[in-house]
Amino acid sequence: MEKKKIRIALTKGRIENKAVDLLKKIGYDVTDLLEKGRRLILTIPNENIEVVLAKAADVITYVEHGVCDLGVVGKDTIMEHGGKFYEIADLGFGRCKFALAVKKGNDFYCGYGVKTVATKYPEVTRNFFENKGIDVDIVKIEGSVELAPLVGLSDGIVDIVETGTTLKENGLEVVEDVAPVSARLIANTVSIKLKQERILEIVNLIKENL
Ligand code: PRP
Repeated sequence: MEKKKIRIALTKGRIENKAVDLLKKIGYDVTDLLEKGRRLILTIPNENIEVVLAKAADVITYVEHGVCDLGVVGKDTIMEHGGKFYEIADLGFGRCKFALAVKKGNDFYCGYGVKTVATKYPEVTRNFFENKGIDVDIVKIEGSVELAPLVGLSDGIVDIVETGTTLKENGLEVVEDVAPVSARLIANTVSIKLKQERILEIVNLIKENL
């Protein structure tokens, strides 16, 4: 009997490369993924698995809507986006952190005025300061957030820090860690019931090879 078809949504870019390495490690034929060109739907032959490539937030959307059974996406996007799906494994790669950073030598928590924080992740930032009971103004930025405090738009930033190089080269420093981040495997809430056997088989293979 043919295995039930599984469709996996994979975040394009850095996570994609690591995920393809992992799929190879568990013994899947990833030739189509390595020779994708500009195609967005790839197959893992013999396994009846289809892999679709999408932007991080869209991975969640495809999984939530049930058109993809599984998804590989960063915890950063999960924390910002939220949604109705199961987070079933920490894949261990794509490790970095959310951190609050300021211009080197500045004291973010000094004084009584409401501070301004620039970020690509307003939800993560809002939750972080709400838990602390601190009122801040949040400015949404689309990228290169490090620029905001340098030109005086904000007192600090909440952003992804991986190696710390971007902060260092722009004269910024971490004040406080906000949350650790890594790639996660997520599953559609219905697929996990209807395709339980296949999903467990894939998850177990992944866990054995992490
Ligand atoms: C991320 C993040 C930082 C940088 C951190 O940006 O926003 O700018 O990586 O990495 P580092 O600590 O190793 O220097 P990304 O490359 O995703 O692009 P962006 O600036 O458009 O957000």
